[in-house]
Amino acid sequence: MPCLRPRSLISSGPPMFYLTTAIDYTNSAPHIGHAYEKVLADVIARYHRLRGDEVFFLTGVDQHGQKVQQSAEKQGVSPHDFVKQTTLRFTTLWEKLGIQYDSWAETTDPRHKDCVRAILTELRDQGQLYKKAHSGSYSVRQEQFLQDRDRDEHGNFGPEWGEVIEIQEENWYFKLSEHTDWLKNLLESTPEIITPAFRKSELLNALEKNSGLDLCISRPKERLQWGIEFPFDENYVTYVWFDALINYISFAGYKSAGNPTLPDFPTIWSQRPVHLIGKDILIPAHGIYWLCMLHAMGFSDAQMPRLLVHGFWNGLGGAKISKSTGNVVDPDALADKFSVEALRYYLIRDITTGRDAEYDIDRLVMLYNTELANEFGNLCNRALNMSQRFTAGTLQIGSDLTEDDLALQQSLTSTLADYRAAMDDFEISKALEAVNRHVVHCNRYAENMKPWELNKNPDNRPRVATVLYHLAESVAHCAVLLSPALPSVSAKLAEQLRLPHLTTLHLADLKWGLIPSGHTIGTPTPAFPRIVIEKES
Ligand code: MSP
Repeated sequence: MPCLRPRSLISSGPPMFYLTTAIDYTNSAPHIGHAYEKVLADVIARYHRLRGDEVFFLTGVDQHGQKVQQSAEKQGVSPHDFVKQTTLRFTTLWEKLGIQYDSWAETTDPRHKDCVRAILTELRDQGQLYKKAHSGSYSVRQEQFLQDRDRDEHGNFGPEWGEVIEIQEENWYFKLSEHTDWLKNLLESTPEIITPAFRKSELLNALEKNSGLDLCISRPKERLQWGIEFPFDENYVTYVWFDALINYISFAGYKSAGNPTLPDFPTIWSQRPVHLIGKDILIPAHGIYWLCMLHAMGFSDAQMPRLLVHGFWNGLGGAKISKSTGNVVDPDALADKFSVEALRYYLIRDITTGRDAEYDIDRLVMLYNTELANEFGNLCNRALNMSQRFTAGTLQIGSDLTEDDLALQQSLTSTLADYRAAMDDFEISKALEAVNRHVVHCNRYAENMKPWELNKNPDNRPRVATVLYHLAESVAHCAVLLSPALPSVSAKLAEQLRLPHLTTLHLADLKWGLIPSGHTIGTPTPAFPRIVIEKES
């Protein structure tokens, strides 16, 4: 469960790494897309902890809005009870998948509501909000007024908008149009605001189309009650997106007046934070509304978040995962069937961050069995079991190193550099590929050195020990490098190696010689049991 670090521990020492994900809608159960985003964020957060950064990882749920109100009505329960129930499905799943967040955002939390209200009041006082009547087409599904630019080539509103109705109503607006020129300049001058870089032009095009439009940020209570009431107009609640985006600052302690249950905002936001989101919510929500909202609140260019935009998991053939196509994947069932480790590994290994991928259960099984059960599992087995059998579990390195030994050490050095560069760029799959390359190198080394043959002659004992030391040292390094992706297996390997410090060391400490010569390891047990699929008869 969420652990909020005491302020005293968030010191001015190591760099602050503040990471958030999108908060998930609670109108339905978590699916594979939600699980991907959470696992990806967890791996990034764990990697930064490994680097020694001071990490604050916030995630949570989006509990307001029309969809929740409608789903609750359908079930005949109050929206409050409904979101309590669905939120529990998310928290239970994140616990099962080992998602280690530092704080949890729920938009019905009174601390969040206070923050949203304080921002509304401040923006109104600064003349950033106004009220006006508007008549037009409204998408019930997307909970927003539509513009002509939202029509398709035939002049119709496409199916993505769901039911579209004509309504006239008075609402509160945010002067978005006053900030779009600033935003264009920011995007041009500060490329790191958006990753991957190819998303920048999409955003600039959208800004061009959006020019001159303000953002409707209220919903009349006659239509929607399940939202945050305006502090200065009790007939209105806040538009779900305006409310939800603010979670990134409300739970970081913004305008919390020293509330001790929230962190210190200037500390948390002292470096550019990273917002991990899916490609569908870049435009307009995060890429336009959110950045302009922050600008209106007085955030400087240096304080603007970095938007890290991931791609989508689709069904085979690129089909969108949706209830209507019947290809919704339940991550909870997958974890039960194949293990949490196999699911975590697949979700970050078989996709390039920023691009889409096609979900394929055969590939999940193949990748786990090939790279973990066969390659890494085999290496662990060789290193640990043979050490038990041939050297009574004691690892000793000799002084006469061969070219093969030095080549293995060199492979480890370059793996470390490749891993680090890839992880710093959020390229998780590439980093895992680098680790796998070293594992393959080690298995080839074992096959060439043949310690099981060498051991037949007692004169070779020192050489056998040196070979096994090289394999075990590689296992120790790989266990650390894989710890962001596979934390529990990594801890298990540290235990088998009887090297508890592997679970707390920093990346900079990862140098040849993690295992002191003369060290005795514990009892090995298989870390990666093979997935066996029963053939249906
Ligand atoms: N509640 C809003 C976000 C508010 S953030 C202030 C929302 N929720 S969502 O439940 O629809 O989506 C949550 C996250 O899951 C989004 O980042 C979205 O892009 C991501 N995904 C939803 N489907 C996905 C896939 N099929 N694949 C990968 N990620 C996907 O939007």
